[in-house]
Amino acid sequence: MNKQDVLKKAAAQAAIEFTLSRVCKSSIIGIGTGSTANHFIDLLAKCHQNFLGTVASSKISENRLRTNGIKVLDPNDVSELRIYIDGADEINSELKVIKGGGGALTQEKIICAMAKEFLCIADDSKWVKRLGKFPLPIEVIPMARNKVARELVLMGANPIWRQKFLTDNGNDIIDAHGLWPIENPGALETEINQISGVVTNGIFAKNSPDTVFIASPNQITTHIRQDKT
Ligand code: A5P
Repeated sequence: MNKQDVLKKAAAQAAIEFTLSRVCKSSIIGIGTGSTANHFIDLLAKCHQNFLGTVASSKISENRLRTNGIKVLDPNDVSELRIYIDGADEINSELKVIKGGGGALTQEKIICAMAKEFLCIADDSKWVKRLGKFPLPIEVIPMARNKVARELVLMGANPIWRQKFLTDNGNDIIDAHGLWPIENPGALETEINQISGVVTNGIFAKNSPDTVFIASPNQITTHIRQDKT
């Protein structure tokens, strides 16, 4: 395991303790996607008797949950999730986030919106002053890909089609480079989502985390969203 992976696992371990303090035997947990979420899934296997089941934000996470003996439910059969746990590609001090490096952003946003609480976990490389150095993932309907790309250029972005990749929903991903610094993540999230052909983009400003755990070599730092305190 490299150093970054050790930190991801430490964040996931802290998330297990936090999650167990929130759930009861009838609780359903939302599970994110990515290498940090994978650590969380592997650790969760040891305590699956403490909650009812999970919903997954991707086929990859669903398979990993099942392989670990954890029950996975269809989101359509669930009315509320007690908590959603996921990683991030960038997080700023206002706890606005960019996600979607793994291409699961749409399901992540849906599951996040179903949850009472969102806990985001990451190693310290993800903590940034301003969002946008990480190219912003945007899920688009395939027939609209070039049209959306042209509109992104007008907004000052350099859109790159993530070739040979389809989302779990059968759509394309455009990675919008050159948006740094994103001064108003909430406004940009809304503006891009209003382009016809866009399914959603990877800014989580409206659905920003309630709590963030950042793992650095000596500690886990907890950040709590201001309007929550
Ligand atoms: C998946 O679509 C993403 O949103 C991931 O949650 C995010 O990219 C973080 O991934 P890692 O945990 O692998 O860094």
